[in-house]
Amino acid sequence: MKPTRSITIFGATGDLTHRKLLPALYSNFKKKRLDPGTRIIGYARRDWTSEYFRERARDGIQTYNAASYDEETFRRFANCISYVRGNLDSAEDFAGLESVLSETEESGDGRLYYLAIAPKYYARVCTYLSEAGMADESRGARRVVIEKPFGHDRKSAAELDAIIHDSFHESQVFRIDHYLGKETAQNILFLRFANTIFEPVWNRRYISSVQITVAEKVDVGTRAGYYDESGVLRDMFQNHLLQLLALTAMEPPASLDADDVRNEKAKVLRAVAPVRFGDTVRAQYVGYRNADGVASDSTTPTFAAMALYVNTWRWQGVPFYLISGKALREKTSEIIVRFQAPPGVLFNLQNCDGYTPNAVSVCLQPNEGIHVKYQVKVPDRGNASRTVNMSFDYQKAFPDSPIPDAYERLLLDSVQGDASLFARSDEIEASWRIIDPILQAWDHAGKSGGSYQASSPGQPGAQQLAMQRVPPLSFYEPGSWGPYEADDLLLRNGHQRQFGCVGPTGEQDYCSDCTDTED
Ligand code: BG6
Repeated sequence: MKPTRSITIFGATGDLTHRKLLPALYSNFKKKRLDPGTRIIGYARRDWTSEYFRERARDGIQTYNAASYDEETFRRFANCISYVRGNLDSAEDFAGLESVLSETEESGDGRLYYLAIAPKYYARVCTYLSEAGMADESRGARRVVIEKPFGHDRKSAAELDAIIHDSFHESQVFRIDHYLGKETAQNILFLRFANTIFEPVWNRRYISSVQITVAEKVDVGTRAGYYDESGVLRDMFQNHLLQLLALTAMEPPASLDADDVRNEKAKVLRAVAPVRFGDTVRAQYVGYRNADGVASDSTTPTFAAMALYVNTWRWQGVPFYLISGKALREKTSEIIVRFQAPPGVLFNLQNCDGYTPNAVSVCLQPNEGIHVKYQVKVPDRGNASRTVNMSFDYQKAFPDSPIPDAYERLLLDSVQGDASLFARSDEIEASWRIIDPILQAWDHAGKSGGSYQASSPGQPGAQQLAMQRVPPLSFYEPGSWGPYEADDLLLRNGHQRQFGCVGPTGEQDYCSDCTDTED
């Protein structure tokens, strides 16, 4: 597909543009992945000049992409940048933008519109673009990138989709989930499908559970206004965690084409069984209610854990534990795939203290890497065994290739028209279908918890959801690993919650001596 010749950023004066988009575009430019003739147009309400926008771009790059900044490259990059002042709800301003864009365009030149704006404007901007003739592809590609959150629930996401689809065909829409742009998330498909040793055992016959953790050290900071309305399920689960689950659980796609990949992810999400409310944990960190913009009696969860079941031939009965929260002890995102223990005939491992069955741990961040845990014999200790690591560490393996920011890859892909790392409409719908009933039950049960009758009897599985007990909101200390109820959720099924990414040496955890089998 032909790369677009222009990138228009709506919300050009905002934080996302400053911290992520311009530094990522600069990196692509420096690596010569962006055509030097590409135009980057910032569009926003503020009375900025192109000159000032370029200075802000320089500041953003120097602050957030310092290692790659050099003056000469920036000078050339700055030549691509300009600024157009305009409102998001003025047909006249969109007409003005259209004439700026078409001024230097040749027939066939494509455009990318990046909506780095508040979600309430997504629908409106798409409609204005369409009314100004700016969605029409007869003179070149017209793509629109839409940030998360995509909708507030299943209904609002469907409504938003309907409005967007009045203006843009699904193939023109790129719904961004920056977790899909992370190198390590992309590596899940390589790990599974480029290696003969993993795929044959990647199923219910060999795997006992999967734990997907995205722990954050930061609290809600200055985003409390947004966060208190959203909570952790909308902020992290509906998108990032479910996308990681889909990558971990999907069937091999027929090819790496966007639709082949997304078909398989959508199938997994559709196969997730309605979550039992008793298999969920919701919690809030102590002190959250004192943050500016948070209601003093807020019941918004800043932490959640749940067990999900993917009802497919491959996964039936295997719990997928999804865990995420803010103000936790460390920032760590990790997928741990735990295998079943071997038959206890020779080594009696199951009775050994500290024995850990095989596991593959994909550390998404920090300490990006993949670690395989397996048993070896401890020298000179009879038949004692110990868990050790076979480790791949990005930094060690690729010392000259620093891991790029997720936005770098995603921006480049959207410029090039490759949607494989973007969520399709049906994936979003399927994700909300999983999350919506939990949100409703939690809202309904409020602070104390209680029974909840599923509200939509037509929904598959609703009967199972009827009159379930909803766990009360619990509280955890900032700097901890969250509430004990999350550990309990795993323990109930005989699994142990893992905290923190396993470092490259594997000394942090897992490793422990196993007693001799001959006593
Ligand atoms: C965003 C959420 O999508 O992801 C934030 O809105 C969260 O609340 C962030 O902090 C986490 O992203 P990362 O890349 O820092 O793990």
